[in-house]
Amino acid sequence: MDKSSRRAFLSATAASLAWMFTGGQASGAAPAIRAGAPCKMKGRKRTVDGVTFVCRTVKGKLIWRRTPVTAQVQVFTVRVLESAALELGGSKVVDVPVPSGGTTGVVVTRTDTGITALRVNCTHAGFPVARVGNVLECELHGSRFEPTTGAVLNGPAVSPLFRYEATESNGGIYVTVSNN
Ligand code: FES
Repeated sequence: MDKSSRRAFLSATAASLAWMFTGGQASGAAPAIRAGAPCKMKGRKRTVDGVTFVCRTVKGKLIWRRTPVTAQVQVFTVRVLESAALELGGSKVVDVPVPSGGTTGVVVTRTDTGITALRVNCTHAGFPVARVGNVLECELHGSRFEPTTGAVLNGPAVSPLFRYEATESNGGIYVTVSNN
């Protein structure tokens, strides 16, 4: 083997040994963090691209795990009607923006004791209810609900309409929706 071949051989051998010791990582670079990758110190936390990992013992091995994302409760209170637009005993369907995007239909009813706000979707199969006489009726299968409470008057629905918080102030009617 001549001198230049020997030099090339030694350089290739050194590169191979370096690769074996570093596991293919560039020397000095921190090992990549991803869920399931090994870690060294239990309880240690690292944040990468906005995701926080914590070093945990799983089946006797220390590995990185994503920390659970805690969903934030979002609450929207929306002015849905002017007070004058809803007479005593009357109901109106309004669209209310929801935290997850889009809108949800809400039946707002003025009663002797205040305002009631109910999700417009029937609890049997989700078809929208409508005010018919003194009740909220679902024309798909005939369920009927009490507009001042959402209680079931006739099935097949068995659960009351979902009720939202509703208030009235400053000449307006407000409905509060949340994502939980
Ligand atoms: S969807 Fe309303 S009664 Fe069936």
